[in-house]
Parts: sequence; C-alpha cells; structure tokens
Amino acid sequence: MPTSTNLSSVFPAGSRVNERGRVEIGGCDTIELAREFGTPLYAVAEDDLRERARAFLQAGRDAEHPDFHVVFASKAFPCTAVLGLFAREGLWCDVASGGELHLALNAGFPGERIVMHGNAKSEDELRMALARGVGLIVLDNFDEIERISSLVAERDGPAGTDRGGDQGVLVRVTPDVRGETHEKISTGQADSKFGFGMADAGEAIARVNAAEGLSLEGVHAHIGSQLLALEPFEREAAELAKLGDFAVWDVGGGLGVRYTESQPEPPSIDEYVRTVVAAARAHDPNGRRRLLIEPGRALCANAGVTLYTVQSVKQNVSRWVAVDGGMSDNLRPMLYGAIYEAHVADRFGGGGDACVLAGKHCESGDVIVRAAQLDDPRPGDVIVTPVTGAYGFAMANNYNGVPRAPVVFCSDGDARLVVRRERYEDLTARDVA
Ligand code: LLP
Repeated sequence: MPTSTNLSSVFPAGSRVNERGRVEIGGCDTIELAREFGTPLYAVAEDDLRERARAFLQAGRDAEHPDFHVVFASKAFPCTAVLGLFAREGLWCDVASGGELHLALNAGFPGERIVMHGNAKSEDELRMALARGVGLIVLDNFDEIERISSLVAERDGPAGTDRGGDQGVLVRVTPDVRGETHEKISTGQADSKFGFGMADAGEAIARVNAAEGLSLEGVHAHIGSQLLALEPFEREAAELAKLGDFAVWDVGGGLGVRYTESQPEPPSIDEYVRTVVAAARAHDPNGRRRLLIEPGRALCANAGVTLYTVQSVKQNVSRWVAVDGGMSDNLRPMLYGAIYEAHVADRFGGGGDACVLAGKHCESGDVIVRAAQLDDPRPGDVIVTPVTGAYGFAMANNYNGVPRAPVVFCSDGDARLVVRRERYEDLTARDVA
C-alpha cells in the first residue's frame, strides 16, 4: 500500500513524499505545480514562513524580554507577498535601499517599524526615508552624518519651525568580531566596508548627539550571515556595551540555516534568541533597553524550494543533468560555493547516480549542485532543490535573457501565484530608443 513520508528539516515544515511518490510542499504536489505554473519556479510554503515568524516572536516572549522586536531583513526575500505576510505577523522590516523601502511601505509596513540601512545611501534615499517616517535610520559613516544633518535642516527650516520632530537614528559599528562564514558575507571584522570602526565610534556618537534634528537612539552591528555558532553574538554584545548605555540595540541578523540533510542542525530559533537576549541583558543594568534582531535567511530560506525541468542528460567524464534555470534564479553556488541538494520530484531518495546538476547559462560556472545524487534523471523530470527561499529570488537576474521565475505560495494544498513569471516583453519594457 502506498504510504507518505515526511521529509527532512531542510524542506519546509509539513513537506512530504505523497502517496503518489511525489514531493509535496504546503500540501501541493510539485509535479502539478510545475505543470500549472511552469519551471523554474519558486514554491514557498506560506505556513512555514508564518510559523518561523511566530517562533521568533514566541522566543522573545519566552526569554521575557519586555521590548524585543524581530526586524525582517527584506533583502533575503524582497517579494511583496512575503513582506506583507511578515508585516501582518507584526514584524518590523530592515531595508537597505530606496527600492527596498518602497517595497516595505507598499507591502504594509508602517514607517515607524522600518529600519533603514546602507553604507552608501544617496541623498534621494535619505530624503525618502525622512519623508516616509522611517523609524530608525542607521548611520554608517561621517559623510552620511553630514548629509543627513543638512537634509534634516532643509526639511525643518529655520530653528523653531521644526516640521518633522527629531529623526531617530542608530550608529553602526564594526565590532571586530568575526563569525565563521564565507568571507563575502562576513561583515563584523575590523576591515569591513560597513559602519564605523570601534576607534571612530565615540566621535561618531558625539557628532550625532551634537546634530540638530537627529535623535541618537542607539547602536547597531551586523557581524555576518549564515553563522552557525552563537558565541560571536555574545562577543558582539560585549563590544556594543563598550560604546555606552543606549536605549536601543540592533544586533543585526545572521542566524544560519541547514542547506542539506548532511549538514548539522544549526542553533534553533529559540536557542539563538535566548542567547542574544541573555547577552544583551548582561550589559543592560536597567533591563529596559529595546532589542532588535534582524533575521533574513532564518525566516525564509527553508520555506522555499525551486522546481526545474530537466532538458538534457549527457555523459562525458561526468553525468551532466541540465535544467531550465541556474545562475539566473540561484546565484549562491556561484558566488559563495553554496552546497544544495537536489531530488527528482517523483523518485525521491531512490538510490541515485552521481551527477552534476547544471544550469542553462553560457558559462561553465553555472552549476547548481556539483555532487547531486539523482535517481535515473531523464528529460522532462521535475527536479526539486530545497532551501532556496532566501537570497534566490532576491539575487535573480536576466543573464542570457532568461525571464525571472515566478513565486507561488502553497498552503493546505492550494497554490497561489504571487509573482508572475517575467515575459519576453518585460525584457524590452524599459527600452526608450
Ligand atoms: N542586517 C543587516 C544589516 C544585514 O546586512 C543582513 C544581511 C541581515 C540583517 C540579514 O542577515 P541574515 O539573517 O539573512 O544572515 N546574499 C548572501 C547574504 C548576504 C547578507 C547580507 N546582509 C547570501 O546569499 O548568502
């Protein structure tokens, strides 16, 4: 009798191989999803996103922090449906550009729940943040302190005619704490392009305090991404404490996730929040400081999978299985050597031949999974790569004129298209001559 099998925790919660022997995400059969929406396709288990948001919030309540907020790093999945879901769950939103600010506002985040980052914000972006009532602007460098001071003065007019109220700001520091991760996504080391070095932080704080129209609420650091150990967050807190006593700490994001079944489980959301809250509390004499964390990946990576269709299979030194996507929908293997697993949607875990899962793009580096184990892959097969919910859609591009993939929300067996596939006309839509 056919039975169903639950899948490992790299897949969205509730995923299984159904009675027909096919991978199912959010109750939706992946072969049917591929048929209905085409491939490549980002399939997202909507309930999984919601559960992770709630897990972060619950962890804050369990740690009994009186003023704890979860700020979704929108760069991880800058899609209106995802942002809207998190806005409704009560999260805040981290934006790092005018475009992300536009997306966050449009998705329903009120300005006061938005934190604006960026190491090279333009005047236009700062003006937009001021005009749209962004709660906290994170100041990264001395040039920016000057730039925002004059913009606030311009907005407020002569003294006494203040139209805006003081703009809440944080000062970003690089605490010289290095977590273990890929160098391209490590940000806390002294030689980083982000924030003020610890040696300059005092001067930055003094200048912001002296500036008219700015209210220095606190300090921020983000030490890196895909961090699998918690100890660096404790060192980060110790460094932030050296800057003085502030009403707000924004300790950034960075909690890593598991990309393949063979990798160890990362710290749980609960363990991570407990550690960060305890570390912050250890340096908070009055216990009243507002604490912000900025998870991106940990909120959405495991909620999404990508579906592809095999176009060709060839054997030379290796067995090459080529699919209809690649570096236009998932740049992470090419940029960071990120390792993914892949499965034939209707022959899951059935032994498998060693093969290379290659993309369709015109360069040899376009390999999605170097050491894939696929069960007798054939043209027309649907391939599932899990853990593509973070930084896949976000970094998608049109290399080789490939239209970007759609996003489908799956829940309780219903599939809902939330971003349509790009069309060839979209590729020429911006042409003006
Ligand atoms: N806050 C700040 C200020 C950040 O710069 C980042 C990520 C986050 C929060 C969220 O970090 P997360 O919780 O997602 O680790 N494209 C790369 C990741 C770059 C992350 C950049 N900043 C990747 O695909 O791995």
